[in-house]
Parts: sequence; structure tokens; C-alpha cells
Amino acid sequence: MFNRRNIFEIASAIAGLAVAGGSKTAEAKSGLLPIDITPRGEVGHLKRLPTVDLESKHDFLTGMMQFINSDVSKASRERMNKLAKVAGYEANQDVPIEAAHKIFGEDPVVNTRLRMWSSVHNHEHYLLDEAFHADGDAYLAEMEAAEKVGPGSIKLDPSLKIPEYCRYEIHQQPGGYCGNPFAGHIYHYATNQFYRGANDQDERHLGYAKDCPSPADGKVLRILDLGCGIGQLATSMKNRFPNAEVHAIDVAAPMIRYGHMRAVDMGSEIHFKQALAENTGYPDGHFDIVISYILFHEVTKEAAPKIISEVGRILRPGGVFYPMDFNHVPAPQPSRIYNTWLDHRWNSEPWRLQWVGVDVDAAMRQAGLVPDNKSTAGQTFGKITGTKSA
Ligand SMILES: C[S@@+](CC[C@H](N)C(=O)[O-])C[C@H]1O[C@@H](n2cnc3c(N)ncnc32)[C@H](O)[C@@H]1O
Repeated sequence: MFNRRNIFEIASAIAGLAVAGGSKTAEAKSGLLPIDITPRGEVGHLKRLPTVDLESKHDFLTGMMQFINSDVSKASRERMNKLAKVAGYEANQDVPIEAAHKIFGEDPVVNTRLRMWSSVHNHEHYLLDEAFHADGDAYLAEMEAAEKVGPGSIKLDPSLKIPEYCRYEIHQQPGGYCGNPFAGHIYHYATNQFYRGANDQDERHLGYAKDCPSPADGKVLRILDLGCGIGQLATSMKNRFPNAEVHAIDVAAPMIRYGHMRAVDMGSEIHFKQALAENTGYPDGHFDIVISYILFHEVTKEAAPKIISEVGRILRPGGVFYPMDFNHVPAPQPSRIYNTWLDHRWNSEPWRLQWVGVDVDAAMRQAGLVPDNKSTAGQTFGKITGTKSA
């Protein structure tokens, strides 16, 4: 009878041979990983998906996402602006959510875009979840082996009390970040689909790292990436500041296990730790830069100020906090207000609406940070710099 264990043994044996003999089929790009399952090779530092079948489905869904996010979304937005106008609202006016439901809730164009986006996004998750679980033992062994080598390090905390709000299947990811051993694998390829191929080589994260303001005195010895996920921003910061010690924390072990394996494979020295952003465990004044990318819209309105307060504690005077996220300032546009609600309700973003409305400036001031206040209503994406007072 067919036995999953056999696959593991065969995969491990092939990987072992690859390390010993340099087989072309499973050779690690950096040569640093003790086991490296790359049956179909790599493009840059992105491992190709394990089968042609899965890769073609991924490519098809990525193309669909491109179509939905361009032409279909444009049609939906134009339709929404028209409907809002008929109902007496300008395109840049605030609208109560109850009124938005009445205006847009039954519209076929709006609902078609939502249905298409949601199905394509879900299907991608489903395919990845199935593929990585099918060879689960081998992928687990690969991560486990990477944990024993550097550069960098990983510190898991099996006793960490995971807050209830972190346990949801955020943006419809099966098992969420904490409850699926392959959350990192799934997140990586599914977000590549979300970015429609424009982040396959971390282009987005490299850009965000480039944009990050430096402390005025130019001293950057230690950096922390909060809610680091699979560490794409951490490796990008290391790329920009090669002499700095880069740390990366996340509540979810599966995310940092994949992230550490990937950083090792890239030869990037990152120190991963499983910890809460509210309680990082680092000493006072330890970091020159604390950075985060799309962490805050996934935490509750109670957690957000606690995290900002913790950042105030661990930054040194003159140190810089650079959180990037969907804008917390409500955008006065009927279409955006409704689309944000749709994301919350149908894309399983339980805390998205709580983030819209968190007083980030006040929380920063409370934490001893001076905000630059550049995040303004009407933008989709917010970047706020807070500098720790001297
Ligand atoms: C949308 S992902 C962003 C990941 C990453 N920053 C990136 O660039 O893709 C949000 C991440 O925040 C983590 N997270 C959520 N709440 C957290 C908390 N309280 N402390 C630490 N990490 C948290 C999640 O586990 C997840 O990996």
C-alpha cells in the first residue's frame, strides 16, 4: 500500500544525496541548507512550486487576479461611484455603512467582482494547502534541518500563550498563521498571487526597506521587524543595512520556521523569535529602527496601542518606528468604505474595521514617539514615522 512515510524517506534520501553529491535536481542555491527540497529548481530566490500542474494553476489564478484587480475592479468602482451619486453621495464623501449596504449590497457588478476575487484567492489557498500537506513530512524535515544551521538563528517558544485574536483564519488562510504547519509556505505563494507576480523576488519589501527613514544621527546597529511573517522585510532591511543586527518576531511559529529556512537559503543573517509584538522581551532602548508591514490591521484596537507602547520602550532615543499598513484614517469615499467592509466580512479580516479608527498619533505620543503625521485620509496605504524623543 502507498505510504506517505516512503515519500519522506525518498525525499530525504534525494536531498541527502544532493548535499553530498551536488545533484542538480535538489541542489540548494546557497549550499547552506542541510535538506533542500527544490525538485523543480529556483527562479532567483523563489523556489518553483513542486509540480508543473500546481505551477500552471498558480499562474492561471495569478492571471485571473490581475484581470480582477484591473478591469473588473475598475468596472466595479465606476459602478459604485454612479450608484452613490444616484443615492445623493459624492465620490469623496463619507457614507454610513448601513446606507452603503442599501446602495451597493444587491448590485450584480459589485457582487461579481467580490465573488471572483474571493473564489480565486480561496482556490489558491486550497491548492497550496493540499500540495504542501501531501508531502508534509518532507517539508517539515526541511524546516527542522534548517533550524540547526545559520546564518542567523530561530527561537521558538512552545509555551507562548497565543492570544485568541491571533487564532483566526485571517484573509481566509486555511488554519490561519498559527494553526497550520505550512502557514509560511502557503502565505509566500498566495501573497505572490496577491501581488500578481510583482513581489516574487521581494521587490515590494526591498522597496519598503529602501523607503524606511534612518535615525537623524545615522546610527543603525540593531533593527527589529515586528509581525515579520516569513521575514521578507527583515531580509530586505539586512540587504540595506548589512552591518546591522536584524531581529524579526512573530506570534506564529510556522511563519518564522519557513522565514528562517528561507533566510538561511538566501545567506541572510536574521534572528527570528516567536514572541508577541506587545511583549517582545528585548531590553529598553535596544533598537535603532523598529519596522512593521501590514501587522496592525490584523490586531485588535486594544492590542494596537499596547504594541506601539512596547515599541516606545524598546527604541533608543532618536530611534525610528516605521509601521506601514492600510490607512487607519477612514477614507471618505463610499466605494472605499464599502470595499473595506467587504474585506472585513468576506475576506476574514476580523480586525480590519477596528484598525480604521485607531488613533495612531495619540498612541505614538503616549509611547514617547513623535509622529510625522503623514498618513492622511483618502490614501489606501499609510506610512507613519514616529521618532523616539531624546
Ligand atoms: C499580514 S502578515 C504580515 C507579515 C509580514 N510583515 C509581511 O511583510 O508579509 C501579519 C503577521 O503578523 C503576525 N502577528 C499578528 N499579531 C501579532 C502579534 N500580536 N505579535 C506578533 N506577531 C503578530 C501574524 O502572525 C502574521 O505573520
